[in-house]
Amino acid sequence: MPATAILNAPTGSFTLSRRPHRDRETLQAWDAADEYLLHHLAAKDIAVDSRFLIVNDSQGALSTALADYSCTLWADSAISQLSSLENCARNERKPPLFVPATEIPQGSYDYILYKLPKSRSLLKYQLQHLAPLIAAPERFIAAAMARHIDHHVVTHFADYLAPARPSLARKKARLIELLEAPTPKAPADDSKVLSLPELGLTLCNRANVFSRDKLDRGSRLMLKGIELLPNATRVADLGCGNGLLGISAARRWPDASIYFFDDSFLAIDSACKNAASNTPTAAAKARYIADDGLSNYTDEPFDLILCNPPFHQDHHVGDHIAKTMFQDCVTHLAPEGRICVVGNRHLGYHVLLKQLFGHCDIIASDPKFVVLLAYR
Ligand SMILES: C[S@@+](CC[C@H](N)C(=O)[O-])C[C@H]1O[C@@H](n2cnc3c(N)ncnc32)[C@H](O)[C@@H]1O
Repeated sequence: MPATAILNAPTGSFTLSRRPHRDRETLQAWDAADEYLLHHLAAKDIAVDSRFLIVNDSQGALSTALADYSCTLWADSAISQLSSLENCARNERKPPLFVPATEIPQGSYDYILYKLPKSRSLLKYQLQHLAPLIAAPERFIAAAMARHIDHHVVTHFADYLAPARPSLARKKARLIELLEAPTPKAPADDSKVLSLPELGLTLCNRANVFSRDKLDRGSRLMLKGIELLPNATRVADLGCGNGLLGISAARRWPDASIYFFDDSFLAIDSACKNAASNTPTAAAKARYIADDGLSNYTDEPFDLILCNPPFHQDHHVGDHIAKTMFQDCVTHLAPEGRICVVGNRHLGYHVLLKQLFGHCDIIASDPKFVVLLAYR
């Protein structure tokens, strides 16, 4: 049973959990910006048949609290999708219609509620696609913790949507309201091309993809680690981002089946495109799965799991996602399988991996990162 907490909203009290599930959860499934939005809406005279487009509802708190209306949730996160389903079910509420960030919501909405994403590229991508959906400026309300609204955010609103003004703060959160109606323009392509001639790779990174402007130093070291690994036939690239690690595995072991997993739909789309352009034969038989870790994976275990784990979830920095990913690997690693992890030295992943698997060796290192190989 995941840990839960109660959100007291103007529309009712709701028991909510957050993902990834962990026993002693210290974070809530909502923040003060969600509460501010819900109280702001409660002061309006909202028709019962109103249609809401909720964007970036990271744990489904808004979708649950507003489920009496017709809600569509647009997000770049499998966690958001799964949490909104779980939280609505727990509270016997109708789940929202989910639209992944790789698709653009269609239809007309009476209100658009926009939680600011952490990624600036995702912010720009979403604002451009939201512009044609906004019926009138007062029908769009953005919200975030005050510390995440700087002048760049306000400038991006002006450049990609319409001039906007942050409200006064309430419990350290602010709303952002539009000062005029947006003038929709043709959205720009959100992909960035990253050319890595020294590796013989060209990667297309969509909005929100990790390290989309340059190759991450940890990922580069991990590529050296992959060169040292024994043969593998069933490989998972867990938290694949643009798919670099899985693609390198496919090149090293052309007969292997490669599975790409990520929370981000835009990352999965990037990995799929990159595998097709860099390793076409392997790409055709690879699988591309948006999920919270390996939580919905039920197929055969892997003999190799590659993982460059995230060190934050939205604005929450920490190793909690890495830990739940490693625990998922315990379930889905074949008895003779190996998990290969890259991490910042100071994070001490080797202690945890040794506890979980019994053995953990350092196979590559530089002054900042280590590549670890854990096995039973
Ligand atoms: C540090 S990046 C690594 C990306 C890529 N593998 C590389 O080495 O460049 C971590 C990735 O984990 C993904 N991620 C974060 N939380 C996740 C979760 N709960 N389940 C699956 N993927 C997750 C992020 O979207 C991100 O793409």
